[in-house]
Amino acid sequence: MFPFSRPYRAPNERAYIEQALASGHLAGDGPFTRRAHEQLRQHLDGAEVLLTTSGTHALELAALLLELGPGDEVVLPSFTFSSTANAPALRGATLRFADLDPGTFSMELPQLEAALTPRTRAVFAMPYGGVSRDMDAIAACCAARGIAWVEDNAHGLFARLGGRPLGTFAPLAALSFHQTKNLSCGEGGALVINDPAMRQRAEILREKGTDRSRFLRGEVDRYTWRATGSSYLPSEVLAALLVSQLDAADAIQRARRAAWDTYRGVLAPRAADLGFTLQTIPEGLEHPAHVFALLAPPGVDRDGVLRRLAAAGVKATSHYEPLHRAPHEAGAGQQHLPHTEDVAARLVRLPLYADLTPGDAESIARRLLSALEQA
Ligand SMILES: Cc1ncc(COP(=O)(O)O)c(C=O)c1O
Repeated sequence: MFPFSRPYRAPNERAYIEQALASGHLAGDGPFTRRAHEQLRQHLDGAEVLLTTSGTHALELAALLLELGPGDEVVLPSFTFSSTANAPALRGATLRFADLDPGTFSMELPQLEAALTPRTRAVFAMPYGGVSRDMDAIAACCAARGIAWVEDNAHGLFARLGGRPLGTFAPLAALSFHQTKNLSCGEGGALVINDPAMRQRAEILREKGTDRSRFLRGEVDRYTWRATGSSYLPSEVLAALLVSQLDAADAIQRARRAAWDTYRGVLAPRAADLGFTLQTIPEGLEHPAHVFALLAPPGVDRDGVLRRLAAAGVKATSHYEPLHRAPHEAGAGQQHLPHTEDVAARLVRLPLYADLTPGDAESIARRLLSALEQA
């Protein structure tokens, strides 16, 4: 069976973890965390980065930094992971779900504009699979209205739009290093800080509301409680695992792109006659090869296609289930977001991981074509 995803095993992982253990520095913000910050900074054209214990926690830290609270309305796509919604919801903010673009599967400018109200305080955007077209326009729209915004860039590390890295468009962005992501340390994440004015407070909120980071750098002679914060810094053992993956980032991305390109090469010529739709990659976007997604033809039993693929040895999936229709969103279920509901009902995601060879991808794509022919 081809699994849906498989964590990459980096050549340096054991040596680095052993080094972290032997160093005696197991808590956060040691040498491996500093190396991870520096390597991520390079991938993000110099942006400030702080490792966190998860992408979820990076989003929560962003919501804390923005001081979201009751009475604030936050616009976000319905077609995203629960963490994008939990972060503002935990602060007591009101969620307002936006539809998605039927080509990119992400909330673009028209869907955002349709969801904005005079009460909107913040926007959480999430380029699905690291694919979005309107990031510049979303930035301009938020700036013009004085609305804060956050990129949930859990999918989009290594993507570039118009040459600029995803994760650097909004003042704050979140990365995820969950085991399903291109780079992983099991559970982990990072907050990207593109607004230098937020840097010092981010560091304080991440360190239990104290200025211990400044103390450890020798900038103050004791640390004190400065703000209501939490503990969001990962252990050096996990940072060591992440650095081993960062060292291998080029090889990981090359392999993922080769599998992605193979899928596209085999499937694109058959899309019109079989009636399925591939995710649109906008002009100027260098996608991160995080997701390979397509929509089953209208009227076809998508779950039946997934079952046929499973019987043929391929674990494909369908996520996300729209948040506005989720059991937790009592009442919001009455909202109708037509593109989100259509995409969620027809989406098929194929296995994608660095160890998937182009030969594997070709074989999976052919099994998908045969499942679609039988549908
Ligand atoms: C879009 C999105 N946002 C947030 C997260 C949360 O990241 P983490 O699992 O690192 O907490 C994930 C995935 O895991 C995700 O896919």
